[in-house]
Amino acid sequence: MIDEQRRQYLAAMGVDVWIPRHTNTVTGAPVDVSSTAAECQQAGDDLVAEIQSCQRCQLATTRTQVVIGRGSSTARWFIIGEAPGAEEDRLGEPFVGPAGRLLDEMLKSIKLTTDDFYIANMVKCRPPGNRNPSLAEVNACGDFLHRQITLISPSIILVLGRIAAQSMLASTESLARLRGHLHQHPQTGIPLIVTYHPAYLLRSPRDKGKSWQDLCLARQTLAQSLC
Ligand code: URA
Repeated sequence: MIDEQRRQYLAAMGVDVWIPRHTNTVTGAPVDVSSTAAECQQAGDDLVAEIQSCQRCQLATTRTQVVIGRGSSTARWFIIGEAPGAEEDRLGEPFVGPAGRLLDEMLKSIKLTTDDFYIANMVKCRPPGNRNPSLAEVNACGDFLHRQITLISPSIILVLGRIAAQSMLASTESLARLRGHLHQHPQTGIPLIVTYHPAYLLRSPRDKGKSWQDLCLARQTLAQSLC
């Protein structure tokens, strides 16, 4: 049963519903996850409260609101963008502007529904003028993103764009070199695929084909991990 506190946490984190997927791997029967669920709930509550009141970097002084994430708590796909833009800062949700509409189309094109993914940014507050987030800003938010990934516990991570990819993989390689390959999220070992940022694809539609290949690689990697 979904209790009220958890519902509030999920609403604040931008997710629709929470269904623990723990089963006994031998019998298939549901496992009593009440203590784990209580810990999860507390961790989620703490996380949302911390992000909402965060003053760790200078972006706290210029944001309209923090942008935590949107999607499903049972998502197998965790999608990581760079930082909120003007529309996201105004509405409090990631990827709600033109790049977000393209991202939604891309996800639909590989038959994902809103139950399948959760989207969050590396940095939770808008850098003024849409500049790239600084290393200090990325580092200040790093623990928040890591805790979101741990709570959702996805099976595949899709990283959008060079800035997020280089940061997540602690790499200085170009996006052209990072995309098209299977990586692992360094802290959790979850399979990770890099692709073009949808804002870039709006400017350079000729690279949409490569992005499609990356999405197919991610989908294939996920299918293999479930076998
Ligand atoms: N670009 C991003 O990286 N994230 C958003 O939420 C919007 C645009």
